[in-house]
Amino acid sequence: MSSIAYVNGAYTPLEDARVSILDRGFLFADGVYEVAAVIDGRLIDNEAHLARLERSLAELRLESPVTMAEMVEIERALVTRNGITEGLVYLQVTRGAADRDFSFPRGVRPTLVAFAQKKNILASPAAQTGVKVITVPDLRWSRRDIKSVALLAQVLAKQAATEAGCQEAWMVDADGFVTEGSSSTAFIITRAGVIVTRPNSSAILPGCTRRAVMALAAEQRLSVEERAFSVDEAKAAAEAFLTSASNLVLPVVEIDGIPIGAGVPGDSAKRLRALYLDLARATAV
Ligand code: PDD
Repeated sequence: MSSIAYVNGAYTPLEDARVSILDRGFLFADGVYEVAAVIDGRLIDNEAHLARLERSLAELRLESPVTMAEMVEIERALVTRNGITEGLVYLQVTRGAADRDFSFPRGVRPTLVAFAQKKNILASPAAQTGVKVITVPDLRWSRRDIKSVALLAQVLAKQAATEAGCQEAWMVDADGFVTEGSSSTAFIITRAGVIVTRPNSSAILPGCTRRAVMALAAEQRLSVEERAFSVDEAKAAAEAFLTSASNLVLPVVEIDGIPIGAGVPGDSAKRLRALYLDLARATAV
């Protein structure tokens, strides 16, 4: 079955889905996006993703061409039309197509595109084996809280990880502290059993999965500290894991070639993944 995408009000075969070469998303990365997981044909934690989309749009003074209620309908239509039981829905809003000029154009309708992809999320091999991570300098701008389509630093970070035989790159600030993964939130669990992750600020994207996992950890009376951690502290941790819509919770078993804990997925990370899955399924729409 050929994939169906959404472009500015129309559903169209993916191969026919087009935007202008003058689109400001293409020329300036002047746009924002969201990714939500689909499990059992339903959207996971979608309210949080759309709330973050609204925030990202407001930060760039971009107006969504559709309401958030209509956005959900578009996401659902893509899930149904593409027969997705497990995978992802991607949404992107840009400032539209206009003559190339750095300042905002007047009277231009923003571009909205969306598509869906199949992906094994539940039976992901990485959940069984855990993932290996490298650390790289964080080369990004200083508004990382906006989910902007300007992802070049993350592309370079992920490629460095791939070339090193790893699945993720943890980006590190000038002081030696981990900010986050190229497309995920970074966590460690100290030998004293404390879950540590960086507090939300303009230094990181406020992860939707992060938020849900932190709430679960609090419910389980696990101790959680929101503070920055260094690469050295991460390497000496009992466990590490990452969270994202596309991978839920994944154990990290190695950082820069150093095994974390016993070098196999940690019990707490596995438990948090199972708890998150239960919650995600129970609250899917
Ligand atoms: N990325 N940090 C960064 C830089 C990210 O790109 C992402 C998600 C996250 C995790 O956020 P969430 O839990 O809300 O997915 C953290 C998505 C999956 C992507 O770009 O494909």
